[in-house]
Amino acid sequence: MRLVTALLLFASAAAAQAPEPFHQVCGACHTTVADDFRTHKHLAAGLDCNTCHGDSVEHRAAAGAAAPDRIAAPQQQAALCGTCHAENAAQYNESVHGKLVAALERGPNCGTCHDVHRVRTARATERRCQTCHEQRPAACMAEPSAAKFSVSCANCHTPHLFHAAE
Ligand code: HEC
Ligand code: HEC
Ligand code: HEC
Ligand code: HEC
Ligand code: HEC
Ligand code: HEC
Repeated sequence: MRLVTALLLFASAAAAQAPEPFHQVCGACHTTVADDFRTHKHLAAGLDCNTCHGDSVEHRAAAGAAAPDRIAAPQQQAALCGTCHAENAAQYNESVHGKLVAALERGPNCGTCHDVHRVRTARATERRCQTCHEQRPAACMAEPSAAKFSVSCANCHTPHLFHAAE
């Protein structure tokens, strides 16, 4: 009996030390998002659902009937992602894209190009560019002088600044 009590105490102490990670807690209802998130470098880097959405206790208790603590609107994403990706966000804020989004006009935010819960492949990112830029000047079809990025457009247009001529 004493052994059982000791084991139970040990088990609850272990549970207190290692609470269930958020992608499991939230993933009970958000299966697809949680599966996507498991493939993102963010998980290995120690981020979890609550980093961007808060603990969302009421939301969970109400099974979605109460809003989560935080959900970044398109024009708030650069600030959210920029807490860690400061340089990318600063360049983006300077860009035509960033200025359009800040003005609540149609333009890409961080998640439009990268997705938020999984990382897009280079090809998929390029297809995102093409959904808005179907017509491109002939200059875009030339060979870049040096290929450093896997998204071909970025070899001529500095990522995040994306000026027309650089
Ligand atoms: C790096 C920040 C970040 C992390 C980490 C994150 N999210 Fe999100 N999430 C966002 C942003 C930003 C949006 C809004 C995207 C948009 O504008 O559509 C969003 C949207 C959502 C949505 C609504 C749209 C959809 O895709 O269904 C759900 C549900 C969601 N997140 C759940 C989760 C869960 C569950 C986790 C953990 C497994 C998680 N998020 C982790 C940033 C994050
Ligand atoms: C018990 C089930 C349940 C759990 C657990 C749960 N959610 Fe949700 N969540 C929902 C439902 C249902 C919706 C859809 C509500 C709607 O369509 O308005 C939702 C919607 C969302 C949205 C989108 C809200 C919007 O306005 O677009 C986000 C973001 C989100 N959940 C994040 C989270 C995060 C982060 C966690 C974990 C901390 C979590 N959820 C845990 C059921 C749950
Ligand atoms: C709390 C800090 C933090 C926040 C907030 C954050 N990130 Fe990250 N992000 C990281 C870290 C750390 C890495 C991993 C860097 C590495 O391993 O090279 C990373 C990696 C990435 C990568 C690279 C993935 C790859 O395969 O190379 C992308 C894209 C990315 N984040 C986009 C975003 C976007 C979009 C948001 C906002 C929705 C965001 N991040 C918010 C910390 C953060
Ligand atoms: C118009 C599309 C677009 C937008 C908007 C965008 N990115 Fe990117 N991002 C790219 C491309 C293209 C690359 C280069 C990928 C490659 O290596 O080929 C990249 C690379 C990255 C990387 C990995 C390389 C690095 O510099 O660390 C991170 C992290 C990142 N972006 C974060 C962000 C964040 C944060 C935002 C919002 C402030 C953002 N991006 C907005 C297209 C975009
Ligand atoms: C070989 C280099 C190169 C590549 C690769 C490239 N571009 Fe360009 N792009 C240019 C140059 C140079 C200009 C300026 C041309 C001009 O002003 O006539 C330009 C201009 C643009 C413009 C501005 C058009 C306008 O009317 O102002 C857009 C949008 C654009 N590129 C999108 C893209 C996209 C999307 C990709 C990838 C699918 C891409 N580019 C790949 C070199 C390139
Ligand atoms: C949601 C739509 C959308 C997406 C996705 C998008 N753009 Fe744009 N982009 C725009 C709009 C709108 C403008 C401003 C009007 C124009 O030049 O067409 C613009 C402008 C540009 C310019 C010209 C900037 C200048 O200095 O004049 C370049 C270059 C460009 N985008 C490249 C890209 C690349 C590369 C990608 C993908 C990595 C991309 N865009 C993804 C909507 C988008």
